[in-house]
Order: sequence, then C-alpha cells, then structure tokens
Amino acid sequence: MNILVTGGLGYIGSHTCVELLNSNYNVVVIDNLYNSNTKTIENIKKITKKDLKFYLGDVKDKLLLQQIFNENKIDAVIHFAAYKAVGESVAKPLMYYDNNISSLITLLTVMDEYNCKKIVFSSSATVYKETKKLPLKENSDKFAYNPYGNTKLFGEKILEDLYNSDNNYSIAILRYFNPIGSHESGLIGENIFDIPNNLMPYILKVANKELDYLTIYGDNYETHDGTGIRDYIHVVDLAKGHINALEYIKDNTVIDYFNLGTGIGYSVLDVVKTFIKVNNIDIPYKIGKRRDGDIAVNYSDPSYAREKIGFYTTKNLEDMCKDSYKYVLVNKINN
Ligand code: NAD
Ligand code: UD1
Repeated sequence: MNILVTGGLGYIGSHTCVELLNSNYNVVVIDNLYNSNTKTIENIKKITKKDLKFYLGDVKDKLLLQQIFNENKIDAVIHFAAYKAVGESVAKPLMYYDNNISSLITLLTVMDEYNCKKIVFSSSATVYKETKKLPLKENSDKFAYNPYGNTKLFGEKILEDLYNSDNNYSIAILRYFNPIGSHESGLIGENIFDIPNNLMPYILKVANKELDYLTIYGDNYETHDGTGIRDYIHVVDLAKGHINALEYIKDNTVIDYFNLGTGIGYSVLDVVKTFIKVNNIDIPYKIGKRRDGDIAVNYSDPSYAREKIGFYTTKNLEDMCKDSYKYVLVNKINN
C-alpha cells in the first residue's frame, strides 16, 4: 500500500514514516522544509534500512500534488503538514488559515480527482472546550480559543462535510494530546532549534545550556503540586497510533475521531523531576506567573481508540524524558 505523508519530515511525521516503513508500507513524503530538513530522510533510512520517496514542495501547490498522484498510485494520505505555534497563530492568523486550511482543501481536491478517499488527519486536544469534566472523551464539548485551534476545528468540519457528501470516504481524525520524546536512536526528534512553544523543548534548551533556567508557569493551580497537568504521550506510541488508524480506514468507509493520549496526567514538576532523575542533569527552574490561556488540568480518555482501533501506549514518562534528551545529545555530537 502506498501512503502519501504530508509534512513527513516533521516531528510526528518522521516518527510515523519509521513505523510505516517498519510495517511494510511504501512511503511517499511531501514537505516544504518549513520546520524540518532533508537530513531526516537519511536518518529515517538509517533506522528502518528502507527507502522512501521524497518530494520537496508545498501541499498548497496543486500541480505538484497532481504530479505526485500521477507518478505514484497513492492509496491513502496521512496529513501532518501544518503550522502549529499557538501564540504565532494569534499574531499571524492569515498565515495560519492560509497554510493549514488552504493546504487541506488543495490536498482533498486532488485526492478527489484521483479517487483517493482515505485520509488520516492530525487534529489536536486543542479542539476541546475547557471543562472540569475529565477525562476528555471524543464527544466532549469543542471550542477553539485561537486561530490555530480554529484551523483544527475547521479541518475536522471540512472532512465531516466531505464524508457527508460521499460515504465512500474513509477518514480518521486523530486528536493528539502532548507528544514528547523521540525515537530511541536519537536520530529523529522535535526541532527545538528555533523558538520553542511547549514545555519539553524549553526543558531541552535548558539542558543544552541555551537557556539558564525554565520558567514554570504558575504553581498555584488546584493540582497535587500546584503546577499544570497534561497528558504527555511518547511520540513513538503516537506514531504507532497512525498505523492503527490506517488499518482501520483501509477496511471501513467511516469518519471517526480518536483521542491519542495515555490517559495519565503529569504535572510540570513531575516532568521536570523525572527529566532530572533519568538524565542525571540539573534543570534549574523558577516559578513564574500563569501563562495566558492555560488551563490547570487536561488529560484524555483513550479507551475508545483502544477498543476501536487497538491503540495502546507502552512508554512511560521516564522513557519520554530519556528519549527527548537523547535526540539533543545525538545532534550535539553529529553537528
Ligand atoms: P512539525 O512542524 O514538526 O511538522 C510539520 C511538517 O510539515 C514540517 O516538516 C513542515 O516543514 C511541514 N509543512 C508545514 N506546512 C507545509 C506545507 N504547506 N507544505 C508542505 N509541508 C509543510 O509539527 P508536528 O509536531 O510534527 O505536528 C504535525 C501535525 O500534528 C500538525 O498538523 C500539528 O498541528 C499537529 N499537532 C501537533 C502537536 C504537537 O504538540 N507537536 C499536537 C497536536 C497536533
Ligand atoms: C499548548 C497549546 C495547545 C496545543 C498544545 C500542543 C497554549 C496556550 N496551548 O498546550 O493549544 O494544543 O500546546 O501543541 O499554547 N509550561 C511551563 N513552562 C514552559 C512551557 C510550558 O511551565 O516554558 C507548562 C504549561 O503551563 C503547561 C505545561 O507546561 O502547564 C504544558 O505546556 P505546553 O507544552 O505548552 O502544552 P499545553 O499547555 O498543553
């Protein structure tokens, strides 16, 4: 089966390419290198000892997509390509709507032209409305608090409308919780070399001595240690979830929504302390004020994904912290 992976050189995309190749899928990647580089192709090949086909370009480029569909018989698409920084999306909404929505529409238009009707879409826990009713289930209330969140919510809606217009489509919408970690080889991982947004990239910058300390955004939440709680999931477990989703849409014509998380919430201090322990390195931190827009606690109920598509996680917080740092260490040596 030939799978087109958009944004396949990015953080989650590259780990998913590894799992696809390990499961004997043929992989075709399109990526414009906005947040990635071609060294990742060599590293995916090194890990899997298998080849993939790469097209350099933008998913908004209809002619290039048509060329890809002409040159390869694409059976299904996994669509990762998007911008993902919440704060930046507030400052530059048009850039986010253009990239995240236009690329989805162009992709779906070309897929339709070539009668390719199977797609796995990268959505996010960000589509859920804030609630004290936890864990979050797939049918929990939805609301977007910023343009990035809107692009995910609109993306889901576009796919829903498409499915309602033609039931031959088969669509899996995956709502990721907080991916961290990297492949155990340390060869692929999250690009932390620009301005980071999320917790783990900041911890890694401190570990790498690029920052003097981590600022913890608030320690007066109603949690066991006062710091915010999230559902961190190892990126390799997350990547494997895409194989589960693909297997499911291969054999069914459905639209369905899946939480991909562990179902376990850890606080910021839990993560920092685990990172310090497993990597035997100090992470100085200071308590700062709460970050605008932050919520106290957020975690998933992943049981629907387990029952329906056989998704389960195997890696714990220690693995996540160890493997996150491994990527920084390997890159330090290789650069
Ligand atoms: P990433 O930035 O590492 O990867 C995205 C890749 O897509 C990059 O390689 C980038 O160069 C490429 N890209 C972006 N726009 C493109 C375009 N128009 N044409 C071609 N290539 C393009 O991000 P990631 O963390 O791997 O996220 C993948 C997907 O998962 C995104 O849709 C993101 O919104 C979603 N998501 C991520 C997280 C997270 O915490 N990382 C959480 C929830 C959802
Ligand atoms: C953020 C986004 C969310 C997105 C998710 C995954 C915001 C407001 N929310 O959520 O829309 O879906 O990433 O990409 O940006 N923290 C610190 N210090 C730091 C960084 C983070 O204490 O330097 C804390 C946060 O307050 C939070 C936890 O660490 O309690 C996790 O933060 P983060 O990794 O940004 O993820 P989310 O808050 O879940």
